[in-house]
Amino acid sequence: MHLMQYRPDLMHKGTRVAFLCSLLVIFALVLAACGGGGEEPQPTEAPPAATEAPAATEAPEATEAPAAGEEITETAEMTETEALSPTEEVTATEEMTGTEEMTGTEEMTGTEEVTSTEEVTEAAAPAGETAAGAGDPANGEYIATLTGGCGCHFNRDLGALAGGNKFEGSFGVVYAPNITPDPETGIGNWSAEDVVHVLHMGVLPDGTQLVPAMPYRAFSAMSNQEALDVAAYLFSLEPVANQVEARAVTTEPEPFTPDPEPPAEAPTEPAARGQELVTIARCTMCHTPTNEDGTPNMDLFLAGAPLQDDEISANITPSEEFGIGSWSEEEIAHYLQTGERPDGSLAQGGMAQQIERRFHLLTDTDAAAVAAYLKSVPAIEHDPYAE
Ligand code: HEC
Repeated sequence: MHLMQYRPDLMHKGTRVAFLCSLLVIFALVLAACGGGGEEPQPTEAPPAATEAPAATEAPEATEAPAAGEEITETAEMTETEALSPTEEVTATEEMTGTEEMTGTEEMTGTEEVTSTEEVTEAAAPAGETAAGAGDPANGEYIATLTGGCGCHFNRDLGALAGGNKFEGSFGVVYAPNITPDPETGIGNWSAEDVVHVLHMGVLPDGTQLVPAMPYRAFSAMSNQEALDVAAYLFSLEPVANQVEARAVTTEPEPFTPDPEPPAEAPTEPAARGQELVTIARCTMCHTPTNEDGTPNMDLFLAGAPLQDDEISANITPSEEFGIGSWSEEEIAHYLQTGERPDGSLAQGGMAQQIERRFHLLTDTDAAAVAAYLKSVPAIEHDPYAE
């Protein structure tokens, strides 16, 4: 039903999408003609520079996951999302480590934040349903928190997702936008479909393509329904006015086309649901090492990686020797919800934080789904602690 409402609304964007797609195609043809290679299309034209949002309208991203709330995470995060060079990465990290980000994340992911928004959510829920189509704000909050609770957007001074945090990388300088429903400076005038579009494609209502620091690639694994739920959640927040600075990108980001297309509804088959959750929660940013260019090294998918400060993330593939092959699905699910290993020891460091901030919220069904998926990925005989 909501889909019926959803698609027509998207129509006006259809042209834009078509335009971006044709740019892509043209570019692909040019590449082919030049015998150029690589998956990474180089900076081309990029979407209509003219539509480059005037400062104010910056990026209304939706759910940058603050993930770990740690420097570690931030680094990994940026690395994963984009092919940033290591040096740039560092810059980005420094900026972000600033404190706001970290602390912001903490507050945000912590329970206070949830509590504070609860009232609003409850109060606005009935109205929100009408406004946001079929979106369920409570489920939207759940999904948003699992992805990291939009922590990159958390403005510590304002105590809200009012944006302003700075991110630097090879892409230039961007600022997390205000994603509270303030009509002037936030997303108050957006439709739910606008939010969905940003989550899945990284494209603003005005056509601006966001840089991949906003993890729309990962979020394109989110179902339409859940993206609508996230929209309903964001619309249920208290509007906070905060004008965020305009971005200064070095090159316009490439248009992104989700592949596969986001499903209408979240999968119910456990491993498929688990895959969706692992993707949108971005477990890979810590558990998969990166190549030199910052892209995830798929040969070592989920096989563990060095993080910052001598921390090392575990091999979570079903390898008996190096991974969690000996854990039952129940044990994996229990660990994600509580941090307790099968031998009774507790999760440490970054993982402990992730569990405390978000994964403990996993419903029994979802925790079991993640476990089923982790059991289904290829076992990789790799010892991350040996490096
Ligand atoms: C901030 C980085 C980070 C993120 C994000 C993260 N992990 Fe972890 N994870 C770690 C670290 C570090 C460890 C090792 C913890 C320890 O030594 O106690 C770990 C340990 C684990 C373990 C236990 C492995 C063992 O042998 O003890 C599992 C299972 C796991 N993670 C699953 C996940 C899943 C599933 C996700 C995504 C939903 C995820 N992790 C996201 C950093 C992370």
